[in-house]
Amino acid sequence: MVDLAPFQLSRSQLNDVRDQLAAAIQDGLAAEGQQVAALPAYLAPPKTDTTGEALVVDTGGTNMRAAWVELTGTGEPKIKAGPVTAPLDVRGDERVDRAGFFRMQARLVEALAPPKGLPVGYCFSYPSEVTPDLDARLIKWTKGIDLPDVVGTLVGDGLQQALAAVAPMDVRVLNDTVAALLAASLVGEANAEHGVGLIVGTGSNMACYADAATAPKLAKQGASGMMAINLESGNFHPPHLTAADEKVDRDSGTIGQQRYEKAISGFYLPFIFQAANPDRAGFDPHLGTQAIVDIINNEAGTNDARLAMAIIERSADLVAAGLAAVIGQYGDIEMASILAEGSLYWKGPGYSDRVASTLKTVLPDDVGFSVDRITDANLFGAAVAALSR
Ligand code: BGC
Repeated sequence: MVDLAPFQLSRSQLNDVRDQLAAAIQDGLAAEGQQVAALPAYLAPPKTDTTGEALVVDTGGTNMRAAWVELTGTGEPKIKAGPVTAPLDVRGDERVDRAGFFRMQARLVEALAPPKGLPVGYCFSYPSEVTPDLDARLIKWTKGIDLPDVVGTLVGDGLQQALAAVAPMDVRVLNDTVAALLAASLVGEANAEHGVGLIVGTGSNMACYADAATAPKLAKQGASGMMAINLESGNFHPPHLTAADEKVDRDSGTIGQQRYEKAISGFYLPFIFQAANPDRAGFDPHLGTQAIVDIINNEAGTNDARLAMAIIERSADLVAAGLAAVIGQYGDIEMASILAEGSLYWKGPGYSDRVASTLKTVLPDDVGFSVDRITDANLFGAAVAALSR
């Protein structure tokens, strides 16, 4: 029988995770090349009166999407066409080259038959270094994707060239966590300036705002004011991982990288289950988190169901500890507002409740929080980036 204890983190172990991540975020804001990259997004908290129309492309999970979006200032944002969706079939053997990768996304935009001249917000959800003019250079792939000739290149430029057949378009790139953060301000979330953009789906990551003047890395570039930061928290190496996590990492092809994400996100949880329980026949971890959710639903009361649940609950606990670390960056505040996105967060069994209840135990008593959900946050956040002046 598999011992569940290593997956059940105590309060003091979660406090360790929180404190070590908080320190790693500080390192990332101070200097380049740290474990938590804390990548500047060059986007200020948005003005709530942003108006206009934009095309948005959202690539980063199991699917890619495109839509034509209208922001109406203080009114509700609207989707004018789409979203059109296609599976992002580039894992495993289905290799495409750089041009092919961007063409797949341009085809979705073409399907919208958009008017010419709209700006494009490109929600590209892999670790990328954004340039001050809002293009972005891919640092590395995550979530099991490996298209080597895209690494190190400008992805906004790649999409722009693929779109040239439709019309010349101005493309601005942002991460999905940053899109969530911007979307929260757009729809008037209270306390949006003390916001956290959280994704827990195929991958996992967080974004927040930081004052460029107090972040040595940004101050050195002469940046000032509040700016969104894509933390790339998934690359943090948390303490108190298990032997199963070590095995998943060793077998991943990206040894030593994304250790926090590998313990949290939907892509990896079934691999942890398999590593902890290698005797279960016929289990295919490539089917995603649904494979272990099915065990919880169909085999209630069994050891396998208990193990599956323990892995999901540990993921939620680790997310809560991470949120406490990010909220702590805002100093002495009364309320933080978390905008959460991702299938595991909202559909995982008991997941969102577990994050909220654990978060209460790892935050100071006088700090409150809300966790909100906005349909199509990535699309609206990307439109904000495309249209902000
Ligand atoms: C990527 C992040 C992204 C997250 C959620 C991670 O694998 O490194 O850039 O925000 O997944 O999509």
